[in-house]
Amino acid sequence: MKQTEFKKRRKQLMQRVGKGNIALIGSANVHTRNRDVDYPFRQDSDFYYLTGFNEPDGLAVFIPGREQGEYILFCREFDKKKALWEGAHAGLEGATKHFAADDSFPIDDLDEILSGMLENKTKVFYPMGRDSDLDHSLQVWIKHIRTQSRSGVVAPAELASLEPILHEMRLFKSPAELELMRRAAEVSAEAHVKAMQLCRAGRYEYQVEADIVHHFMQSGLRAVAYPSIVAGGSNACTLHYTYNKDQLKNGDLLLIDAGAECDHYAADITRTFPVSGKFSEAQAQLYQLVLDAQLAAIEQIKPDIPWNAAHDASVEVMTKGLVKLGLLTGNVKKLIKAEKYKQFYMHRIGHWLGMDVHDVGDYKLNQEWRNLQPDMVLTIEPGLYIPENCKTVEARWRGIGIRIEDDILVTKTGHEILTNGVPKTIADIEALMARETGDE
Ligand code: GLY
Ligand code: MN
Ligand code: MN
Repeated sequence: MKQTEFKKRRKQLMQRVGKGNIALIGSANVHTRNRDVDYPFRQDSDFYYLTGFNEPDGLAVFIPGREQGEYILFCREFDKKKALWEGAHAGLEGATKHFAADDSFPIDDLDEILSGMLENKTKVFYPMGRDSDLDHSLQVWIKHIRTQSRSGVVAPAELASLEPILHEMRLFKSPAELELMRRAAEVSAEAHVKAMQLCRAGRYEYQVEADIVHHFMQSGLRAVAYPSIVAGGSNACTLHYTYNKDQLKNGDLLLIDAGAECDHYAADITRTFPVSGKFSEAQAQLYQLVLDAQLAAIEQIKPDIPWNAAHDASVEVMTKGLVKLGLLTGNVKKLIKAEKYKQFYMHRIGHWLGMDVHDVGDYKLNQEWRNLQPDMVLTIEPGLYIPENCKTVEARWRGIGIRIEDDILVTKTGHEILTNGVPKTIADIEALMARETGDE
């Protein structure tokens, strides 16, 4: 992503923070896996959104109207030995030269320098309660300023959360962000197609996971947006199953929920298909119901409809279908009111999607479901989960878990499905799998 994009965001942030105030945001930290080994570093999404700076031990400061420069980056100093062991890092010079900071300072000098920057500011915006070190440091810095009040220095009077400002910005995706999301969606869809093609009874869930991650990496996307769920048979009834350890069996369905991350932007796709390549009658009936619910929900997506409309549409289709198939009995309206569908469809229709797979942004404004607007991206992912031990339904339905999930962009006139690259109708899935398996 180009620096101009980050600049634009910072400018927008400065306007919202306002002159006389200051905003702070820290980078992610490195976490130890064991002894000298760290977990792969993933930058904090808010920090990256504003800086494009992909190193730990950073703190970005925004001071609208500051004459010597509004954007200050505290970071690690360049260290030859560190560069030898760990590779390049920007250093103070790189922070201004390559990341367009107006000023840069060593992170080790934060305590001495930052309290000066806080002097005479009215309001401090920061991610309140997210990083206890920063929470604590702010108190120390403000206390320190107060000790100098006799010299006329004023300490900030208000601490405010930065998140509402920043997350509202992140909710609306720019063309540059959509380009990355399209790439993540495209590669993820291809990986799901591969998984369908390579699926065979006798293989293990982790081997399918490997096929998927292999495709992500071969395509240049090294990170998964979240741990892949590869769940054969009744494992699919565990919503966030990630053990991925069992052998695949003919006669079972396989649910895969997997998405790649492209330069910090996520895709999130679920498909469910038969291990054998052919749905049984019971599987096909439930699958078609989930698909109908998904299509009805997607149809709702356009500007100015409330967030909840898609969920409500899915609940109606699902409840009617469950009654028709005999999994629920009674009057549809009453069943919906009593939320009886929740026994089998216990999650909501989806979530915002962006840098975080469950992305930031309010779902309600003034306690009302907010309306969709162009450039928002969300998932639509209804599911049905009938546990093995569910005695209230006929045996043929038991042990089946199905979810179908696509990523949807709200456009000016309606919506665009970003994840259309992977089939989801029964006919298309069976045709794809028959081509590759020789239709056993
Ligand atoms: N992959 C997590 C979810 O679908 O929300
Ligand atoms: Mn999702
Ligand atoms: Mn998912």
